[in-house]
Amino acid sequence: MNILILGSGGREHAFAWKLAQSPKAGQIYIAPGNAGTALAGINVPVDPADFEAMKTFVIEKEIDMVVVGPEVPLVNGISDFFSKDKILHDVTVIGPNSKAAQLEGSKDFAKGFLKRHGIPTADYGTFTAETLQQGEKFLENMQPPYVLKADGLAAGKGVLILNDLGEAKAELRSMLLDAKFGKASGKVVIEKYLDGIELSVFILTDGKNYVLLPEAKDYKRIGTGDTGLNTGGMGSISPVPFANSEFMEKVESRIIRPTLYGLKQENIHYQGFIFFGLIKSGDEPYVIEYNCRMGDPEAETVIPRIKSDLLEIFENLAKGTLDKTKLEVDERYAASVMLVSEGYPGNYQKGKIIRGLNNLNNCIVYYAGASNDVENNEIKTSGGRVMAITSFGDSMSEALKNAYANAKQVDFEGKYYRNDLGFDLKQ
Ligand code: AMP
Ligand code: GLY
Repeated sequence: MNILILGSGGREHAFAWKLAQSPKAGQIYIAPGNAGTALAGINVPVDPADFEAMKTFVIEKEIDMVVVGPEVPLVNGISDFFSKDKILHDVTVIGPNSKAAQLEGSKDFAKGFLKRHGIPTADYGTFTAETLQQGEKFLENMQPPYVLKADGLAAGKGVLILNDLGEAKAELRSMLLDAKFGKASGKVVIEKYLDGIELSVFILTDGKNYVLLPEAKDYKRIGTGDTGLNTGGMGSISPVPFANSEFMEKVESRIIRPTLYGLKQENIHYQGFIFFGLIKSGDEPYVIEYNCRMGDPEAETVIPRIKSDLLEIFENLAKGTLDKTKLEVDERYAASVMLVSEGYPGNYQKGKIIRGLNNLNNCIVYYAGASNDVENNEIKTSGGRVMAITSFGDSMSEALKNAYANAKQVDFEGKYYRNDLGFDLKQ
């Protein structure tokens, strides 16, 4: 089976690494890929946004399955493009159609869906330029902190959490009237702040059945103790100690099953990953957001914990026989530390030589913003998040100790990583 993976991050390296281990895998291509995906397959310069170019490539290379890493191609309808095309419609796409991807593509749609199906989430209101005044009133009647969310995709930057009412109103105006996040903030969701601890829960669904994957916790902020700017993710840990069986039973019965039931009721066929961004407030789980894809950097701890053949699971998903899948999971802890470029998530330099890779042991490296300099036989930094270093351990602290020991060995100018992952988790 020939496979095309779309994307260029650590998540896509984890997919390529895992799928390449399947005896069923033929040639694996990654568009556009990175230094790591090149170890598991062939990187190709096809733009995931250019569906026609993709079609030509898929036909030429006899691709049987397309695994979509990021959300943008899904929200833009790549799955629909394949299913409606006379030649491509038999190609499996792992990822939902554009209607189903609205769970991530529109916060207003997601909140409406959650409310319609009685799934626990923060109370909210949605406002546009025309209803700005009502939006301001809505804020006045709330307690701080104020949570403002751009409706559409905003590359993870569209959520503002503010303590001051005046500032919240100013930001609301800027989002609605000055297009602070472009078209994405044409609508703004204002919601109640939930106090608690977050985790990421993932399923794969064929529209009828689902497989619960290992959960994970990611660390989004750049600074120690969850301070400073939001990033694409500074590392992850799986399993999550507080996600015990009692809590996960609540997640399945109050969130996962009602979500699948709601999709069916609304005639939305969903095939692919659903990522539930949850918060545990008190002892109860609430949905903060849905994503229509796997998480990054969660994939870098979740995927290596899956012992089963992921390609076989994807095949079952395509056939609608996911009930046949029995997931085998590595019971150990996995911890992943993201090494980033100095200055990230602001401005940073690229092209720094990465050294020390031969000194690593007891870890898996998943590359993100790193590319091959073929001429000089070197790997160089090419992005803010450079590489994730994942290690296992019988305890969370052992997994972290192993990952950090390797993080120290890698060397590139301006290397930075958070050294306090897991600080908020008790084992
Ligand atoms: P989102 O893009 O919806 O995941 O939001 C980004 C981050 O903002 C989340 O990971 C949370 O840390 C935070 N957040 C979003 N909504 C809320 C909320 N209602 N209460 C508390 N924190 C929130
Ligand atoms: N780790 C959060 C995300 O992938 O959106």
